[in-house]
Amino acid sequence: MTTHKPHPHDSAPLHVTGAARYTDDVPLPPGTLHLAFGTSPVAAGTLTTLDLNAVRAAPGVLDVLTAADLPHANDVSPSPVPEPLLATGTVHYIGQPLFLVVADSHLNARKAARLAQIEIAETEPVLSIEDALKAGTTLEPPLTFQHGDPAPAIASAPRQISGRIEIGGQEHFYLEGQSAFAIPGEGGEVTVHSSTQHPTEIQHKVAQALGLPYAQVHSQVRRMGGGFGGKESQGNALAIACALAAQKHQRPAKMRYDRDDDFIITGKRHDFRIDYTVGTDDQGRIRGIEFTQYCRCGWSNDLSLPVADRAMLHADNTYYFPHVKIESHRLRTNTQSATAFRGFGGPQGMVGIERVMDHIAHTLGQDPVEIRQKNLYGPAPRNVTPYHMTVEDNIAPALIDRLAQTADYTDRKSKIAAWNAQSPILKRGLALTPVKFGISFTLTHLNQAGALVHIYSDGSIHLNHGGTEMGQGLNTKVAQVAAQVFQRPLSAVKITATDTGKVPNTSATAASSGSDLNGMACKAACDTIRTRLVDFAAQHWQTDAAKIQFTPDGVQIGTETIAFKDLIAAAYMHRISLSATGFYATPKINWDRRAGRGRPFLYFAYGAAITEVTIDTLTGEYRIDRADILHDVGNSLNPALDIGQIEGGYVQGVGWLTTEELVWDAQGALKTHAPSTYKIPATSDRPRIFNVALWEGENAEATIYRSKAVGEPPLMLGISAHMALSDAVAQTGDGTAYPNLDAPATPERILRAVNAQQGQPW
Ligand code: MTE
Ligand code: MOS
Repeated sequence: MTTHKPHPHDSAPLHVTGAARYTDDVPLPPGTLHLAFGTSPVAAGTLTTLDLNAVRAAPGVLDVLTAADLPHANDVSPSPVPEPLLATGTVHYIGQPLFLVVADSHLNARKAARLAQIEIAETEPVLSIEDALKAGTTLEPPLTFQHGDPAPAIASAPRQISGRIEIGGQEHFYLEGQSAFAIPGEGGEVTVHSSTQHPTEIQHKVAQALGLPYAQVHSQVRRMGGGFGGKESQGNALAIACALAAQKHQRPAKMRYDRDDDFIITGKRHDFRIDYTVGTDDQGRIRGIEFTQYCRCGWSNDLSLPVADRAMLHADNTYYFPHVKIESHRLRTNTQSATAFRGFGGPQGMVGIERVMDHIAHTLGQDPVEIRQKNLYGPAPRNVTPYHMTVEDNIAPALIDRLAQTADYTDRKSKIAAWNAQSPILKRGLALTPVKFGISFTLTHLNQAGALVHIYSDGSIHLNHGGTEMGQGLNTKVAQVAAQVFQRPLSAVKITATDTGKVPNTSATAASSGSDLNGMACKAACDTIRTRLVDFAAQHWQTDAAKIQFTPDGVQIGTETIAFKDLIAAAYMHRISLSATGFYATPKINWDRRAGRGRPFLYFAYGAAITEVTIDTLTGEYRIDRADILHDVGNSLNPALDIGQIEGGYVQGVGWLTTEELVWDAQGALKTHAPSTYKIPATSDRPRIFNVALWEGENAEATIYRSKAVGEPPLMLGISAHMALSDAVAQTGDGTAYPNLDAPATPERILRAVNAQQGQPW
């Protein structure tokens, strides 16, 4: 079997030697134009003067474009609500592109972009969640999911607990920044290369900006140096800008953001405030619960509505609520338009309920894992979600039990308590949190994919599919599928760049569904060719089709075995088509977001993590001592890549909830716009002991070789680190108060929480 084997990432040697080619590495002809945006220095107001004379006169500048100069659509939006590429009068955030500089070099373009005389009649910016609530600025009216009747259930419950948690956003910090280039072709055609998770959307937006039919635009991407959701829509602006300049000047045009610009211009993870009220019995079983989620969306729609929806869809995580209401507020603010980020709102929703579980446990003086176990989904009627979908594949109870056992939860818990009792300054904390993540795009029509497979007459296999490679190993997994069907070594399958000219109408590589969708489409294409080959061989060698088998040693035809390449050569000589497309559409799903009802997901991916931390109560500093993870990827297509995704996802989730803090000043300027002030995890921040295991079990649904999606779910395992820090803080003071620890739990926040536990205000 080629699938289920730990093959290394197909580009691993290129990645580590620096030979992997990213968009910015592609050599372009001399005469290539370089672009930069001039951006807004204020967060809100009306543009009264945009004097670009000094910009035009700057060295190396060939052209400067404003909204008025755009020949067709001025729109970068991934949603039906337009969002201007260049501001049209109203200014919405600090960093919003106002004009586009076209110059002979990257540096000249950037230098010139700073020379504009800009006057803006400023208005009071709406920056925070509180500001937006006060000003009443929203993207759409609140959305509510309800099951049962929570208010009376909470009121009549023996215990009531309520609280609030604020959760900060997150910068993607892909190592390769946003980048694109465009090459003009004959007769108005244009080819765009960009670092994007969504080549088809780039094709569409570029075509609209140039007034061309989609067929005149060709969009390609070989790989990204990380996307993490930040390249689902945020690359549109650069690609459109390049295409506009290339078309107008009939020269290649290229654009990349420097890191600071990338931070300041592009959207990030949505920050949230979640208010909760829960009623439980005396054992901590939930009778009714209400969440109010406040989601800061930034200045435009972008992907905020589906992100906010997914936060609602994960407010339950692995737990059953007999009565529940989830209300979501989508707030518009004068900040970067928040966008997709690994988990797509799911992580924020999950932090809310995990906080509730700890709050219940602390209030009742019970073990937090026992409280979690009591509230898990179970047999009917305890298997219905707040959105009325039945959970059919629930492995959370067994998975949590297994992890608690293998990682010695109970024993370590009591050892840590004993250790804490004799340690006045350093305190340890331990927490287990589970994950249940819904797999499928909630916009049902996006759950489709295509692939194109050719076998050349020498027997080599050329594979193309609609997914994009961003480091997650999608190409390797899909190539394994092709190799599997023909029983060829992986090296016989050539992976090629994602290309709208080969596979059309693709969805973004997102929602963790890349291998589910493209793996199936690839299999369909390979199966088609395989069937043709079998039919041909049966006739040609006069055997029963059932006696023809593809094996690693060649193709068995009756009693004879011939080399794969000889079968291909013979098929070619007999004019058999050796090329096929494949298509896949996810079955069973349907979803009505307004009604909050349906089956938005084909299945769930599960996992659980136990994290142990030590905090220093005098400084607030901390360390992650140990993490134990058990994660469900079904029947793994590639255990090495899956474990890589799990480790990386966990660390990225921990970064989000601990050290990665975004700070805007009172004027709405993002102050943390470089690695000097924004701290992503370093290798030294990984857990000292890091045990990752894969759950053994196949997907209950008929996915590609019964595997499960893995891209996003492990990020949410990082929630256990936040809960462990909260547990450590709870070990200080007299133990009566529940620590009010917001995210990210920076050392400053830990120190403040410790002081509060000890009755000392900050
Ligand atoms: N892993 C790496 N190395 N780099 C990335 O950019 N993006 C994540 C995840 N894992 C990402 C990653 C996100 S946000 C998603 S949706 C999935 O990969 C997308 O790929 P898949 O659908 O093939 O899993
Ligand atoms: Mo991932 S946030 O769905 O690109």
